Amino acid sequence: MKILSRELGKLFEAAAAVAFPELSPDQIVKFVTLEKPADTAHGDYACPAPLRLSKILGKNPQDIAMAIIEKMPKDYRYESVEFARPGFINLKLSKDFLEEELKILEGGFSVEGHVSDKPVIIEYSGTNAAKAMQVHHLITTILGQSLSDLYEFMGYEVIRINHLGDWGTHFGKLIYAVETWGDRSEIERNPNSEFLRLYVMFNTEAEKNPDLENEARKIFKALEDGDELRLAMWNWMVKESLKDLEKIFVRLGVHFDHIMGESFYLKMADEILADGKNRDMFVEGEGGSLIFNMGEDKTPALIQKSDGTTLYLTRDIATVKYRVDTWHPASILYVVDVAQSLHFEQDFAISKALGYAEESKLEHISFGRMSFADGAMSSRKGNVILVEDLLEEAVKRAGELAAKKAGEMPREELARIKEIVGIASIKYGILSQDRVKNLIFDWDKMITLEGNSAPYLLYSYARANSILEKGRMELTGMPRLNDPLEIDLVRQMLKFPEVLEGALNERKPHIIATFLYELCQNFNHFYGKLRVLDASESEKRTRLGLLRSFMHELKTGLTILGIPVLEKM
Ligand code: ARG
Repeated sequence: MKILSRELGKLFEAAAAVAFPELSPDQIVKFVTLEKPADTAHGDYACPAPLRLSKILGKNPQDIAMAIIEKMPKDYRYESVEFARPGFINLKLSKDFLEEELKILEGGFSVEGHVSDKPVIIEYSGTNAAKAMQVHHLITTILGQSLSDLYEFMGYEVIRINHLGDWGTHFGKLIYAVETWGDRSEIERNPNSEFLRLYVMFNTEAEKNPDLENEARKIFKALEDGDELRLAMWNWMVKESLKDLEKIFVRLGVHFDHIMGESFYLKMADEILADGKNRDMFVEGEGGSLIFNMGEDKTPALIQKSDGTTLYLTRDIATVKYRVDTWHPASILYVVDVAQSLHFEQDFAISKALGYAEESKLEHISFGRMSFADGAMSSRKGNVILVEDLLEEAVKRAGELAAKKAGEMPREELARIKEIVGIASIKYGILSQDRVKNLIFDWDKMITLEGNSAPYLLYSYARANSILEKGRMELTGMPRLNDPLEIDLVRQMLKFPEVLEGALNERKPHIIATFLYELCQNFNHFYGKLRVLDASESEKRTRLGLLRSFMHELKTGLTILGIPVLEKM
């Protein structure tokens, strides 16, 4: 399918160019656009050009609108173009065109893809080895996966990377803890929860005995200097921990093209330090540390500690250089918690100053903090909420919902459904919220058959499916649209390509979720009001076609959100 606002926009551009030859091509592209009308009863698209060109042309909006309307190329796709106050031209799609598009939609949904020879790198998850996966890691993992799928669906080549946190001072602490209190076989049985336990233990002990911090620092320094025994221990810890993380990735249906640890960039970090020093980019700070000045009023960035060990930031600068040299990407998106905004500001500025990447290619896709609705979740150990616990709770609640709804069902079937619905609810709960705001986590809103939730969307799909199965019929010949509710549903469905493009441009999957929710509401309304299975032959043909198109779109959208549909529910 085509992005209609773009296609129809060309008609307005052509008309404006003929009506007002004094406008430059740039002005036309800039001002003659199509947007959503304030009230869809007045049309499918609104062109704000008359309002926006009024000053430039020195004419009143209505005269401009009339002049453009007069020159509009004839096109069967629209039924009318009309002036609307204060300065818009509203376009209404024609019934012939809607019927033709419905016929195409019945066969499946696709979008005319973007063509580029350069990939987009999307980095997400950034989970830490030997540390428990936390709620913000769950958000980036789900958000990043969905953005990658969206880019891919829209025709981009995507490279998915998990920048695994497998290096840093916490390994000094952990190795100390494992050597002092750890039990190898216990760790191999339950790697991440053991690592968490040992890490918490280290911190409690270090409060009583500050000397431990020093010991940990020494161990980390030994690691950076290449101490073989310590490196072997580190290697084993990362490997064990990844086993656990991978279980979560499988459960979430998430995958990466590369899982590359921060440790991979260690050697390159040294080159970068040398490079910057040679070019006098860095200044010396306290105790022989190195600093990059970000400019007036800005916090200077520390890039080498006084003991000579590298920093998270230095490894990230090396990462930029490596990615650009290796993949020549069109852009690199970093899906990471808003708490790291300063970090990425520094990373991008220094990478630019050193000539490793254009800053415009680097983008921090940040997201807000998760807050829990009253009593939604309390943590089992200390103050961390474990992702595993969240998933378990969701699956349990989804099971309760399914049992209430469907009554008795075979045990295996219930197990399958509750796993799918539980995970889907968590994903949708995250993806349906605007990522730049703080996210609210509320079981009652996420796991329910009403409102903007995964179960509601999945149920709408299964409902349409069961009707379609009962009504088995070849969708031959053209569908004919007569009822306003039918027309409304097609008009809404034709907006989907634009919605996907908008979500991509803003890197915000919730735009897709909102659309799907409204689509389901519209479908349920349609089905509540109109007969389908017992309608006349020609109405039945049209309405089953609508149902099938609805299912194609819903399935496409849910797939991009990482949610598989259920044929029955
Ligand atoms: N591992 C980091 C953390 O848990 C996130 C990594 C983000 N990505 C990056 N390129 N720095 O905070």
